[in-house]
Amino acid sequence: MKKTELMYEGKAKKVFATDNDGLVIVSYKDDATAFNGLKKGTILGKGAINNRVTNYLMKMLSEKGIPTHFIEEINDRETVVKKVSIIPLEVIVRNIAAGSLSKRLGLDEGVKLSRPVLEFCYKDDALGDPMVNRYHILAMNYCTEQELDLISEYSLKINRILGDYLKDCNIELIDFKLEFGKTVDGEIVLADEISPDTCRFWDTVTGEKLDKDRFRRDLGGVEDAYQEILKRLLGE
Ligand code: TMP
Ligand code: ASP
Repeated sequence: MKKTELMYEGKAKKVFATDNDGLVIVSYKDDATAFNGLKKGTILGKGAINNRVTNYLMKMLSEKGIPTHFIEEINDRETVVKKVSIIPLEVIVRNIAAGSLSKRLGLDEGVKLSRPVLEFCYKDDALGDPMVNRYHILAMNYCTEQELDLISEYSLKINRILGDYLKDCNIELIDFKLEFGKTVDGEIVLADEISPDTCRFWDTVTGEKLDKDRFRRDLGGVEDAYQEILKRLLGE
């Protein structure tokens, strides 16, 4: 497979076209941003770690019945994935209060929610990814009702599978963000990434943060936290 032109460059990844019409290559960068791009930096080694962690978790999820865009890892920061049109929603699942939920509802970080919470944000940097509900999504035709039901069902199932899996690695899955895409055949698949950039991971025993909050909040030890996640998941 040959990489051709750069199709898209986001904050953390580039997407290249290939000589196969149905496939693209994702290339993970070490660049990090927070607060809708206001804070910028570099996390050394992040691209390679997020590539490997994402692929590892996507393979695990696909074995458990979640369709994903993953095809093949080609080097430490690049992966071949199915070409999809991204549904313009960030799907957030929360198990424990943290981040923007804590702020919005005045909850201490770490408070366990009595059941998982599903949130949707409309993917639009200029608007700051505003939160939307089911009615907005359907009225604005961001996806169909059937697709929204499937995305919701997949997200809650991913939460159960991932939460159980991470517990065995002494990682508490606090919350995370997913994106879904639609293939040329109209299949809804999990896309984007699942990594310390897009999840909150806390050590189950010490509560130590092992994710991008270390960068967002200037907590130090950012690279070490990403490395620790790679080690706990892939044993490296
Ligand atoms: P929040 O508490 O800031 O709303 O974040 C919820 C989860 O979503 C957290 O695990 C981080 C992730 N997230 C992203 O992946 N991208 C984003 O742009 C934001 C704001 C959050
Ligand atoms: N995707 C968000 C941004 O740049 C960052 C975050 O994860 O908080 O700016």
